[in-house]
Amino acid sequence: MVKVAIVGFGSRGRMFGRKIMADDNVQLVAVAEPVQQSRELALEFGVAPEMLFADADAFFAQGKICDAVFICSQDAQHIDMAMKAMELGYDICLEKPAAVNIEDCIAIRDTANRLGRKVMLTHVLRYAPFYQNIKKLIDDGTLGEIVTINQTENIAYWHFALSYVRGPWRKMADSSCTIIAKCCHDLDIINWLMPSKCTSISSFGKLFHFCEEKAPEGSAQWCVDCDSKTRENCLYNAYKIYPQRMNTSVVGGTARLKGRDIYDILDSKEDVIGRCVYHGENDAIDNQVVNMNFDNGATAHLTMTAFSERCYRYIHVHGTKGQIHGDADTGILHLTVYGQGETQIDVNKLTQQSLNDGHGGGDYFLYKDFIDYITNDSPSFTRTTIDDSIESHLMGFKAEESRLAGGKVLPIE
Ligand SMILES: NC(=O)c1ccc[n+]([C@@H]2O[C@H](COP(=O)([O-])OP(=O)(O)OC[C@H]3O[C@@H](n4cnc5c(N)ncnc54)[C@H](O)[C@@H]3O)[C@@H](O)[C@H]2O)c1
Repeated sequence: MVKVAIVGFGSRGRMFGRKIMADDNVQLVAVAEPVQQSRELALEFGVAPEMLFADADAFFAQGKICDAVFICSQDAQHIDMAMKAMELGYDICLEKPAAVNIEDCIAIRDTANRLGRKVMLTHVLRYAPFYQNIKKLIDDGTLGEIVTINQTENIAYWHFALSYVRGPWRKMADSSCTIIAKCCHDLDIINWLMPSKCTSISSFGKLFHFCEEKAPEGSAQWCVDCDSKTRENCLYNAYKIYPQRMNTSVVGGTARLKGRDIYDILDSKEDVIGRCVYHGENDAIDNQVVNMNFDNGATAHLTMTAFSERCYRYIHVHGTKGQIHGDADTGILHLTVYGQGETQIDVNKLTQQSLNDGHGGGDYFLYKDFIDYITNDSPSFTRTTIDDSIESHLMGFKAEESRLAGGKVLPIE
């Protein structure tokens, strides 16, 4: 029996908790979580009361009490927790991003290598059957040489408002820059699909909409104080958007609100969820484009936008012999081998695993791969160890550096 602990029992921690519960070979033995109500939820996952810890420090103070930990706290907390876990002898499933700057990512990598710890990042998209199908068609030569990849991360206006204007990623200095927080998966998938290395990068973007200048007349600092007509017409009216959307799996940082009366929280102005989206303290940017150059002359482009109805990723891969494009949310791929017309591939029909189960089925396969990694060390073409993920993290941090420098082209070294 593999014994594991979870540090941070919010949305991601609970997602892993559910996978562990369904796995006869793995036992959840401890949970560290400061929010009492969230922590006590772990009792329903079979954790003994004395194995619930008020925070990561209290858990680590026990020494090494199981085989591995899932670190599912917020971005800026990963570095300290990962370092402590490795020093104690734990292997780690580390939520992305590994850390909020490249120096800390490298420190995690170097410590893992020095101590011989297994540290796996949660780049879920590689595990989604949708992207695996594209990868196969690239690797078996169907598309010829890959010339360019175009990926769009459509965050959805409501997801952006809840997670990046009023949520944990609203202030870049307290969490991570938006391109890392939202798109380190996209950069990883581009890097994985492209057969050569990214050599230079440039980027533009800004906070376009969720700022004072765009505030409608009649709006106020808090949603509760907004003029009633203005609030009624506002897409981001917290009194409507939270009850409708806060339990959507992609929305981060709302696990702490479960079971509480949302209207009370909004009326009392006690929590950031009640702030007006136009008068908040947010600086997370709502649109960014990134251009990438690869060492064989191929190129890639990533668009991140808050402004879409649905939350979905779209990819277009152009090769010398064929092209493929599709919406990862619907799971339908459109493959054209030049001169032979289009074939549709319905990825939903190619897997037993429900594609609705988190990131197009990716969460399930990622969990399984981590357990395989720590128990059998079995090879995996999808796994991103800390060594593998440094490259795409570096691309993200360089994209941000370029954006801040007005789009300057920067080498990736
Ligand atoms: N792999 C993915 O696709 C994916 C998707 C969403 C989020 N994430 C990442 O997962 C992480 C968690 O995101 P989330 O949406 O679950 O956030 P969350 O806010 O719901 O969960 C974080 C939890 O950590 C707890 N915590 C805070 N301080 C702690 C401490 N000192 N010790 C232990 N626990 C502590 C919080 O109380 C909270 O319950 C983030 O880094 C995020 O970027 C990854």
